[in-house]
This record gives sequence, structure tokens and C-alpha cells, in this order.
Amino acid sequence: MQLDGKVAIVTGGATGIGGAVSRVFVRRGAKVVAVDTNPEAGNALAAELGERVAFLHGDVRDPDIAPRAVSIAVERFGLLTTLINNAHASRQAPFTDLTDDQWALSFGTGFEATKRFMLAAYPELRKQGGSVVNFASGAGLLGQVTQASYASAKEAIRGLSRVVANEWANENIRVNVVSPAALTSGVKAWREAFPELYAASVGKIPLGRFGDPEEDVAPIVAFLASDDSKYMTGQTLMADGGGVQLR
Ligand SMILES: NC(=O)c1ccc[n+]([C@@H]2O[C@H](COP(=O)([O-])OP(=O)(O)OC[C@H]3O[C@@H](n4cnc5c(N)ncnc54)[C@H](O)[C@@H]3O)[C@@H](O)[C@H]2O)c1
Repeated sequence: MQLDGKVAIVTGGATGIGGAVSRVFVRRGAKVVAVDTNPEAGNALAAELGERVAFLHGDVRDPDIAPRAVSIAVERFGLLTTLINNAHASRQAPFTDLTDDQWALSFGTGFEATKRFMLAAYPELRKQGGSVVNFASGAGLLGQVTQASYASAKEAIRGLSRVVANEWANENIRVNVVSPAALTSGVKAWREAFPELYAASVGKIPLGRFGDPEEDVAPIVAFLASDDSKYMTGQTLMADGGGVQLR
């Protein structure tokens, strides 16, 4: 299978896109350490997927969590080949209304956690080479209003990813970015609350719908984690139905 022999850390790996990535990775032959703040969903995922998943309950802002996730991968599964930096929490508000806590939430769970997990994973990834997949957003690429803290953290993640892709290329560690659009429970709640905004958003997606986390987004992440993409690094792949077309 496409991911046989891979051992991945997936942050925010219990629900949403991260949960879909955990499921699809295991189905395709990988072993997964899923890190998440939601113990109910994490334990349910581990019960569903069995011994190929280790659930680590923790917040990616906690400096101890990244080294613990790496240790679990090595102790339980023997190595670490893959890091998926998916977790990211943020709040929306106009730029002038954003509080220091809101900036800290977005940069702490997004940029800082991505940086910390990459640093913690590096000594293991370099042993045999590996793949890092970080997460961006159309909100950053397009400058979506009310998303200053989130968009800034996402574009900082893309900048970091390009630099580290170049620095680690000679050790065969690839670093790429996925920018998704997926109908997660958060997006479903937003659809209920603002049906007209949702319809307008869908109208801007050439393929005419938000993606399904498991059917549409996780396979693109799996491609970047697999050796099928071994000649790609430093790239951003849009998993968004054509909503943003990079040039
Ligand atoms: N859903 C979309 O359409 C969309 C669009 C653009 C970008 N993204 C990006 O894709 C990624 C996944 O998005 P999603 O919609 O599945 O998110 P989500 O909010 O539905 O799920 C995130 C998961 O991360 C966990 N989590 C949240 N904060 C955490 C923390 N501090 N530490 C550990 N785990 C934490 C949650 O419990 C949850 O299981 C994020 O990076 C997001 O910014 C999503």
C-alpha cells in the first residue's frame, strides 16, 4: 500500500481533517501517533483503528508534547518518517479588534507548534529521510477579512516551510504544504449560521462544493506523505476544488 512502513505524527489528529488523515493513513498502511486536545474523540479513534494508532492527549502549545509524540512514535512503532502539522485554532475579528490572546492562540497553535514539532521530529526524520506536511489556508493566500491573526500565522508557516525544505533537502526530508477546503463540523456549523455566506463561498469553488475530509483532502496529504511525491519539496498544494489557483 501507498504508506506501508510509514510512521506519522498527526497533530489535531482526532477529528476534522486530522481525523480523516489518521484514518486514511492507517488504511493505506501507516502507523499514526494522533495528538489532540479532545480525549473522547482521540480514544474513540484509537478504539476504531486499533494498535496502528497511538493517541496522545495534549495541547500542541505545550512544549513537552512534541518530544513526547516523537518518543511514542519511536518506542511504539520503531521510527518516525512523517509529520503532519494539522492542528490550528483561531478566532475571527477585524484587525483593530483582535486581542493579544487571540494573536497568541493563532500563532501558538499554528506557527509555533508547527516549528516546535519540526524541530522535535528532525533527529528521527534525518535517520532515513521523511516528509513533513504543514497546513495553509485560502484565508492567508487571499487576505480574507477578519482573519488577520490566522492568515498571518498560515503565511508564516508557508515561509518557514520553504526555507526548511531547502535546508533539509540534502537529508532527503521533504517539506510541503496543503491548503484545504473541507466540510468539517466547524464549517457545517458556519453553514447553518450563515447560509448566504456559505452559498457565496461555494460559488467561488470551480468544482462546486467544499471537499470531504476523508474522500478529498486526506488523499492529497497521503500523496505528499508517500514516496509517489518523492521529487516534490517546498510546494503548496491546493486541496480546495480549484478555489485558489497558484501561479
Ligand atoms: N476546514 C477547512 O475548510 C479549512 C480551510 C483552510 C485551512 N484549514 C486548515 O486545516 C487544518 C485542519 O482544519 P479542520 O477544519 O479539520 O480543524 P478542526 O478545528 O475541525 O479540527 C482541528 C483538530 O485539532 C484539535 N485541536 C485544536 N486545537 C488543538 C491544540 N491546541 N492542540 C492539539 N489539538 C488541537 C481539535 O480538537 C480537532 O480535533 C487546520 O490547520 C486548518 O487551519 C481548514
